[in-house]
Amino acid sequence: MTRLEICFLKRDEGDSSVQSTLDAWKERMWGEPRSDGIQWSTPDWHTLLPSRSEYVSRAGIVIRSIDVGHRSLAVAGICEVATKSEHRGSGLASQVLRHAAGFIRDELALPFGLLLCEEEMIPFFERFGWQWIDESPVCALPDVEGELSQLRCMVLECTDAAWPAGPIHLRGLPC
Ligand SMILES: CC(C)(COP(=O)(O)OP(=O)(O)OC[C@H]1O[C@@H](n2cnc3c(N)ncnc32)[C@H](O)[C@@H]1OP(=O)(O)O)[C@@H](O)C(=O)NCCC(=O)NCCS
Repeated sequence: MTRLEICFLKRDEGDSSVQSTLDAWKERMWGEPRSDGIQWSTPDWHTLLPSRSEYVSRAGIVIRSIDVGHRSLAVAGICEVATKSEHRGSGLASQVLRHAAGFIRDELALPFGLLLCEEEMIPFFERFGWQWIDESPVCALPDVEGELSQLRCMVLECTDAAWPAGPIHLRGLPC
C-alpha cells in the first residue's frame, strides 16, 4: 500500500487555488447544487492526501456543538469523504480516515466524531471504529429532514467517553 503524507488545512488558510481545486472536485463528485438535495455544512478543516501535484483523497471536518438528549456535546462532523476514482482501492481513504480520527482526538481535543452516510457505507466506516446509532438527527433546516432520515448516523468515540443516548439536534446545517 502506498504511504503518503496526510496534511490538514484550515478553511480560509493557505493558497486560494487549493480551495478552488477542492471546490471543483466536490462539484464534479456531488454536483452543485448537490444531487442529494441537502445543503451540507462547509468543513472547518480539510484532511488531504497529496500525491505528486494533486490531492487524491480527502475528508472534511466540521467543528460543532450539537444537542444529544438534554446535553450539549462538542463533535467533529466528518463529511466530503472521497478518493478520486482512478486512485480508489489503494487504501487512501483508510489512511485519511485514520489520520482524521487522530487529529480530532489529539489536535482538536474533541471526544466524538459524527457522520451521516448511506446505509451501504456503514461497513466501510465500521472498519475505522465508527458505530451506527439508531437516531435520525434533526437540523436547523426542517425541509431537509426528510432527506436526512434516509441517511444513517454514525459516531466515533475518540476517548474513553461513551456516546450518550438521546435524540440528536445538529444545531446547524447537516455535517
Ligand atoms: C468510499 C471511498 C471514499 C473509498 O475510497 P478508497 O480510497 O478507495 O478506500 P480504501 O481503498 O481505503 O478502502 C478501504 C476498504 O473499504 C472498502 N470499501 C470501499 N468502498 C466501500 C463501500 N462503498 N462499502 C463498503 N466497503 C467499501 C474497500 O473495498 C477497501 O477494502 P479492502 O481493504 O478489503 O480492499 C471512495 O470509493 C469514494 O470516493 N466514493 C465516492 C464518494 C463516497 O461515496 N464517499 C462516502 C460518502 S459517505
